[in-house]
Amino acid sequence: MAHDHFQTVEGQLNWNAPMFKLYEKAKRNGKWDPAEIDFSRDKTDYGKMTDDEKMVILPLIASFAGGEEAVTIDILPMVQALARQGRLEDTLYLTTFMFDEAKHTELFSRWQREIGIGGINLSAFHGDSYKRIFYEELPERMERLYTDDSPEAIIRAATIYNMVVEGILAETGYYSFRQIFKKAGLFPGILRGIDYLNRDEGRHLHFGIYTIQRLIAGNEKNFRLFIGDMDELWPHAYGVIDYLTTLYELQMAQEWVRSSLVFDAGLMREYAKKQFEIRKRQVERGRRYENAAELDEAWARAVERKTSF
Ligand SMILES: [Fe+2]
Ligand SMILES: [Fe+2]
Repeated sequence: MAHDHFQTVEGQLNWNAPMFKLYEKAKRNGKWDPAEIDFSRDKTDYGKMTDDEKMVILPLIASFAGGEEAVTIDILPMVQALARQGRLEDTLYLTTFMFDEAKHTELFSRWQREIGIGGINLSAFHGDSYKRIFYEELPERMERLYTDDSPEAIIRAATIYNMVVEGILAETGYYSFRQIFKKAGLFPGILRGIDYLNRDEGRHLHFGIYTIQRLIAGNEKNFRLFIGDMDELWPHAYGVIDYLTTLYELQMAQEWVRSSLVFDAGLMREYAKKQFEIRKRQVERGRRYENAAELDEAWARAVERKTSF
């Protein structure tokens, strides 16, 4: 596509654009390097685990690693779609987004290598729901943006990517990981990495919420599309969590299992359900505004007050 103008030549960046503010925040808060995290204690901890305990964590690692890799390789069509639409500040922000996801992918692969499981194929731990979301729906909806950047296509892409994968699955994953290992005093290295990652994900969620909100502001049809889409994806998202928790419960029900790891599977399911409701409510706040310009002003004010939106 030929360019007919350049925003920063004809004028300047929109310094108040919500995504420019988020870009500034990413530059300030996104400074961390997976290569600087010390995984030596994690290696010892993993070495001391029983085979049954290892079996508890491998499905979780398979889910995290696949998820981070998927979002790293699937974000590009969103960057291109928004760039094509002339959304320069959103594009600037997304450059940091992609770099964040690259570091998340590196973090898990590095950790797997350090604790000695880098060469193990964990793909058997991806169940049907996981495959539906990460192998099929996510790349399909993202790739659609190469040729279609309609509000519907953008809502469907941001809903699966930001609301379901990041807002429900990743959040529930971090929660579970912390639940199991913080209490047990294990894996300080990866837990530190997850703290950084969680902070990055907070910004990613803001991008997703904003992106959907500006399309539903003053547009009920788009709002209903978003809600319908969330409801359509929920059984698969819940399926991912249900698969992991059921696997754990079945394992623990065997009397020969030797594991000292404590984990409340019911709590994990509840947490996922709660995230699903929270994401819907967050996006729904966009309905208060007549149009995207009003929404942008409200975001700018919220950023000034440093309140979350
Ligand atoms: Fe990530
Ligand atoms: Fe993310």
